[in-house]
Amino acid sequence: MKITKICCIGAGYVGGPTMAVIAQKCPDIQVTVVDLNTDRIALWNHEDLNNLPVYEPGLDAVVAEARGRNLFFSTDVDKAIDEAQLIFISVNTPTKTYGSGKGMAADLKYIELCARQIARVAKTDKIVVEKSTLPVRTAEAIKSILDHTGNGVQFQILSNPEFLAEGTAVQDLLNPDRVLIGGDQSPEGQKAIDALAEVYMNWVAPANIIRSNVWSSELSKLTANAFLAQRVSSINAISELCEKTGANVSEVARAIGMDSRIGSKFLKASVGFGGSCFQKDILNLVYISKSFGLVEVADYWEQVIIMNDHQKRRFANRIVQTLYNTVADKKICFLGWAFKKDTNDTRESAAIYVAGHLVAEQANIGVFDPKVEQPQIIFDLEESGVSQNSRKRVTSYEDAYQASEGAHAIAVLTEWDEFRHYDWQRIYNNMQKPAFVFDGRNLLDGKKLTEIGFVYQAIGS
Ligand code: NAD
Ligand code: UGA
Repeated sequence: MKITKICCIGAGYVGGPTMAVIAQKCPDIQVTVVDLNTDRIALWNHEDLNNLPVYEPGLDAVVAEARGRNLFFSTDVDKAIDEAQLIFISVNTPTKTYGSGKGMAADLKYIELCARQIARVAKTDKIVVEKSTLPVRTAEAIKSILDHTGNGVQFQILSNPEFLAEGTAVQDLLNPDRVLIGGDQSPEGQKAIDALAEVYMNWVAPANIIRSNVWSSELSKLTANAFLAQRVSSINAISELCEKTGANVSEVARAIGMDSRIGSKFLKASVGFGGSCFQKDILNLVYISKSFGLVEVADYWEQVIIMNDHQKRRFANRIVQTLYNTVADKKICFLGWAFKKDTNDTRESAAIYVAGHLVAEQANIGVFDPKVEQPQIIFDLEESGVSQNSRKRVTSYEDAYQASEGAHAIAVLTEWDEFRHYDWQRIYNNMQKPAFVFDGRNLLDGKKLTEIGFVYQAIGS
C-alpha cells in the first residue's frame, strides 16, 4: 500500500518534530498532527516560528518549509483519523500516579482513549503505529480494542519507537542510527511494515531500517533508555568515588571511553539525569519485571534510579554544607532549569529537585535559563510538591547577571553553551564573597574561575 495520508495523534516533543521531518522529506504525503490541547496546536500554527511549543535547533526551518504545504496542525482529531491510512499514536505515557502500579507502571489511559477513538471513527482499513514508548505487549491491548468494532475495518498494529533525544531532535530524525519497526509476522503484518518502511526510505538508507516482531520492538525501546541511563548512573557513581580519592571523573571517563568496547558517549558525570523518559521508562521496566516475579532483574534496574536520586541529593547537600551548613535567606543563582541544553523541556529536570531541597532550607533562588520562564518554573515546583510559601523564594531573571547579583553561590544545572562565554569577572564583582560556583555539569573553566577568585567545585574531582 502506498501511503499518501498520515495522521499523528499527539503534537508534543515527539509528534511535532517527527511529523515535521516526515512532511519535509515526503512532500507527496499529507501529514496532519492533531492534539486535544488547543493552545499547543495554536502555537504550532503561529506565524512567528519563535513561538513553536517545542524548542529544537533547526525545527523552525523544517516547519517553515512544510507547514501549509503538506504539514498541518489541527484539533479535529476525528477528521484526521478518518482521512489517514496510517495513524501514529504519539501521546504521553507518564508514570501512573494512582491505583495499582502507582509510581511505577506506565499510565496507558491516553493510549487507550486514542485506540477507542480510532475504533469509533475509522471506516477504512488503517495501519496504527505505536510511536509512544509503551510497555511490552501493549499492542495486544490496542488490537483487542480495535478488533471489536464490528464494522469490518481491518487494523494492523506496528511498533515504531522513537529514539530522538531532545536538543538534537532534528538531526537525530534526519540521520537516525536506526529506524525500528515491529509488526505482526503474518503477510498482512509484513505488508504494513513495508508500507511504513517505504515512508522512511524517502531519506533513511534501507540498511538502517530494521524489522522485528512487535514485542521485541516495544522492549527494545525500554531497554535502550535503560542502558543509556545506566551509563549516566555508572559514571555518576564513579564521580563520588573520585571526590574521595583525588581521581578526576573526566580523566577516568576519557580513559575508559577510548576503549572501543565501552565507547566515549554518555559518560558525562552530572548533577543527575532528567527528562520525561529515563526515569519513567526504567520504572516501567522494573514494574514489568516485578509483575513476572523477576525480583533480581527489577532490583538491578531500580538501582539506576536510586543512584540518580542519590546524585541529585548529594549535589544539593554539598551546596548547603559548603555554605557553612546554612543557606537560610542566602541567594543561590541557578544557571539553567531545563533538563539539558538546547531544549525548553523541564520535565524531571534535576534543577527542580535541587531547588526543592534548597528552599526547604529557606534559601532564595534566582534562576536564569535561556528558554524557560517563571510560570514554568513555578509550575514544576508546585507539581513536585513544593509549598506555596517555599515557591515564593524562587524568582526567574532576564539574564545571568541579574540572577547572580548579590548571590552567595552559583549552581550550574544545565549545560547551555552560552554560560561558558559570560563575563565571569563581572559576575564575580557583583556577588557576595567568598563567591562559590557549584558546577553540576563540569561545564565551566574551573582554572579561570579560581584565578578570578571564585571557590569552584565540580562534579567528580
Ligand atoms: P508530550 O506530553 O510532549 O506530548 C503528548 C501530547 O499528546 C500532548 O500534547 C497531549 O495533549 C496529547 N494527547 C494526549 N492524549 C491525547 C488524545 N487522546 N488525543 C489527542 N492528543 C492527545 O509527550 P512527548 O514527550 O512527545 O512523548 C510522547 C511519547 O513519546 C511518550 O510515550 C514518550 O515516552 C515517547 N518518547 C519521548 C521522547 C522525548 O524526547 N520527549 C523521545 C522518545 C520517545
Ligand atoms: C533520551 C534518549 O537519549 C533518547 O534516545 C530517547 O529517545 C529519549 O530519551 C526518550 O525516550 O525520551 P533525552 O532524554 O531527550 O533522550 O536526552 P539525553 O541526551 O538522553 O539526556 C537525558 C539526561 O541525561 C539529561 O538530563 C542529560 O543531561 C543527562 N546526561 C546525558 C548526563 O548527565 N550525562 C551524559 O553523559 C548524558
